[in-house]
Amino acid sequence: MHARTKALETLLVRLNSRFGERISTDPDELAKVSGDESGLPKGNPGAVVWPMATAEVALVAQEAQELGVGLVPRGAGTGKAGESIPLGGELVVDLSRMNKILELRPQDLYAVVQPGLITAELDKAAKEHGFMYPPDPASWESCSIGGNINTNAGGPRAVKYGVTQRYVWGLEVVLAGGKVLRTGRRSIKGVAGYDVTSFIVGSEGTLGLVTEATLHIIPAAPVVETAWLSFADPVTASRASEHIFAAGITPRMLELLDTTAMDVVRPKSAFRLPPAGAAILIECDGRDEGVMRDLERVCEIALARGATESAIAQNDRDREGMRRARRLVSGSLKEAYPYKISDDVAVPRSKMPDLLTRAQELGAPAGIKVAAYGHLGDGNVHINLLCKTADERELAKPVRQEVLRLAVSLGGTVTGEHGIGIAKRSELGFEQSRELIELQKRMKLAFDPGGIINPGKALPV
Ligand code: MLT
Ligand code: ZN
Repeated sequence: MHARTKALETLLVRLNSRFGERISTDPDELAKVSGDESGLPKGNPGAVVWPMATAEVALVAQEAQELGVGLVPRGAGTGKAGESIPLGGELVVDLSRMNKILELRPQDLYAVVQPGLITAELDKAAKEHGFMYPPDPASWESCSIGGNINTNAGGPRAVKYGVTQRYVWGLEVVLAGGKVLRTGRRSIKGVAGYDVTSFIVGSEGTLGLVTEATLHIIPAAPVVETAWLSFADPVTASRASEHIFAAGITPRMLELLDTTAMDVVRPKSAFRLPPAGAAILIECDGRDEGVMRDLERVCEIALARGATESAIAQNDRDREGMRRARRLVSGSLKEAYPYKISDDVAVPRSKMPDLLTRAQELGAPAGIKVAAYGHLGDGNVHINLLCKTADERELAKPVRQEVLRLAVSLGGTVTGEHGIGIAKRSELGFEQSRELIELQKRMKLAFDPGGIINPGKALPV
């Protein structure tokens, strides 16, 4: 028997009395926790455990450390970079059953939640008090807070409200070996010591297992107005968007769909997407009728800068229809192009036209169709290399490398929101120096000297 497998067997025996049916090596159960939404091949977990409390996670971490068994934290499995894909023989720690809102304190502007909570549920609960939890990944009806913290997830509203990190005030984290670490505070302000909370946010579950989070909630803007702007092409749309910001308007959503993205969504969408080369979904929010004035100004600017049409949502049904059309893009493209490579590069906003133009040019020689959609207002657009077969995907791989290098050369990043995971470990070096990567490896060692926690993720091996 392989040494690692033996260690895992011993671990299972030790954990069995505590977890009973909540620990499994059943192949059907393992199949459910072996992949994510990255399109990467599924991994090979040794077992899966479903803890219900921090003390149980701590027990798992303690025993796993003693036996040298790797742990892979898992939430809803909606990751896009393979952060939760087990590389071989690890115990998957599925935190989806730790899914409660423990406290909701609008008067103190925070909520305390467990990692398995579905993200949209927190926003919904806050809304009942006139509050909101701003981070809204496209998958927010299925992704969970723990995964959002591990990847520092963004979403359409990030253009005004920022990404997950801005909302994480404190964490409870189970470290390798089972110690429970608490970071941060529950006050609005707090600068004591190094900002360990922020260091853990976005660390892809490689430093510890997040078991609780104190999250900032904010008063919700009562008025939201939404419009759909059509353009001949994405570059015109991108240039027009710069003029919206230049006019002093910060929308709360400024999302791009190119013609391919619209084509795949159209058959499923209640909102009738006007035929166009590109579209921007834009929202403004605030307290009063000034919001509609801003949105009308946005439409005027867009029409003066090349938009062919503007449509303002007349009611919540229209608004929801427009939003849903945007949220459907990723999954619909995946259905049409099962082997697509989806990236999440980000560049300074003004460089977006260069990125959009060059990405098309890079795909052309290999015959790879390129789609672009996403967070235009953040300079973070999903460049998708559309592949229908595994062979096409192979052809697209070098194109992808060029797209990532292009983003870095424009002053941007290889990943604006999905993370490195296992998808971009080799490409981190396109962006970061050897010194910086080595420093991060030492920081990882300070948390996890035995390399037990989510081994092989986030940094080059
Ligand atoms: C999105 O913005 O739709 C998500 O980040 C998923 C993706 O398309 O990659
Ligand atoms: Zn996105």
